[in-house]
Amino acid sequence: MAQRFILNEVSYFGAGCRKELPAVLKRLNLHKALVATDKGLLKVGTAKMVTDVLDEAGFPYEIYSEIKPNPTVTNVKQGVEAFKKSGADCLIAIGGGSSMDTAKGIGIVSNNPEFSDVVSLEGCAPTKNKSVPIIALPTTAGTGAEVTINYVIIDEERQAKMVCVDPNDIPAVAIVDPELMYTLPKGLTAATGMDALTHAIEGYITKGAWVMSDMYELQAIKMIAENLPLAVEEPTNPVGREGMALAQYIAAQAFSNVGLGLVHGMAHPMGSLFDIPHGVANALLLPTIMEFNMPKCIEKFGVIAKTMGVDITGMTAEQAAQAAVDAVRALSIKVGIPQHLSDLNIKEENIPALAAQAIADVCTPGNPRDVTEAEIIELYKKVL
Ligand SMILES: NC(=O)c1ccc[n+]([C@@H]2O[C@H](COP(=O)([O-])OP(=O)(O)OC[C@H]3O[C@@H](n4cnc5c(N)ncnc54)[C@H](O)[C@@H]3O)[C@@H](O)[C@H]2O)c1
Ligand SMILES: [Fe+2]
Repeated sequence: MAQRFILNEVSYFGAGCRKELPAVLKRLNLHKALVATDKGLLKVGTAKMVTDVLDEAGFPYEIYSEIKPNPTVTNVKQGVEAFKKSGADCLIAIGGGSSMDTAKGIGIVSNNPEFSDVVSLEGCAPTKNKSVPIIALPTTAGTGAEVTINYVIIDEERQAKMVCVDPNDIPAVAIVDPELMYTLPKGLTAATGMDALTHAIEGYITKGAWVMSDMYELQAIKMIAENLPLAVEEPTNPVGREGMALAQYIAAQAFSNVGLGLVHGMAHPMGSLFDIPHGVANALLLPTIMEFNMPKCIEKFGVIAKTMGVDITGMTAEQAAQAAVDAVRALSIKVGIPQHLSDLNIKEENIPALAAQAIADVCTPGNPRDVTEAEIIELYKKVL
């Protein structure tokens, strides 16, 4: 069987690496950018840390900031219009998964106008042309969307998240500057960091996992266990932020190429139907779904426990596997993630609608243990 691995053409890492941006734009022979970001990042001054670099270099740009967390088809369509009007030849995405995913949608539709309805991009759409060049600067340490071939957009009509998988959408260049993450509040640092841990764990146990993806995911698990509490407790400590910035990128390098699983499949409907932040939804579900997956993952869970720093000497394989679930739950509680759907105002009568979307989600078939809709209902009930 052939294995495929797709990554950015070039990526930069380290505090202050956003200053490479003018040289990148020059090398790619680009002349004007549409900056895709959101209102929160404009307000808090993080987007300005990047546009200052453009200003200093005299590089022209316009800003499109009509992007909401858990972005929509409308966000993409308006962005396509803004891109056309601006006369730009590239996109600079500054933000979390929402800004980067919207930029991917804009870039794909602009160069493949036959998909301008956006909804036909769901799944693996047969686009012919590469996206408009995207330079992506993440401001959360979570999604790794700067290196993935996926983007997630809400179809408002169906109130469902569409996962779009398309190698043509990958940002040409990723600039992963941990200084852009210092302003991320505690709750979002915790949630986005737990999203990254979910990527690493699901990417490690997914059906498509293999030696190369395992190498990335285990390193990411180790770095997240070591750095997430520090990033949450001390937002401007460069060690925690740099560790998380790298770890989420490393996790995404692999999961983008091998897929995810049921945690993402069940988290997506929580985002589309209840606007729950993506990382919170994943974190809340992760330990319970690990328990469900345990029979298929005993050995790998033991490795996860060890990688997270648990001393598994003398444990049986089952005890070591349970120790992984316990370590994940303890980390989630430590960083302040809510543990029940009822904490998020989701009620028992909402579960069938959530389950109907979860069973149809693109991520669900990647789960190591096959699952039925009835089992998904039971899993949501467990975390109620
Ligand atoms: N493309 C992929 O591979 C992929 C993977 C996982 C998730 N996703 C998608 O990404 C989206 C979630 O992205 P996210 O979790 O990164 O959050 P986000 O982009 O939705 O941002 C959440 C909030 O955080 C704020 N914020 C972001 N960075 C900040 C900073 N440095 N300082 C202050 N505030 C900041 C934003 O303004 C926003 O209000 C979801 O739609 C999810 O489905 C995509
Ligand atoms: Fe995710």
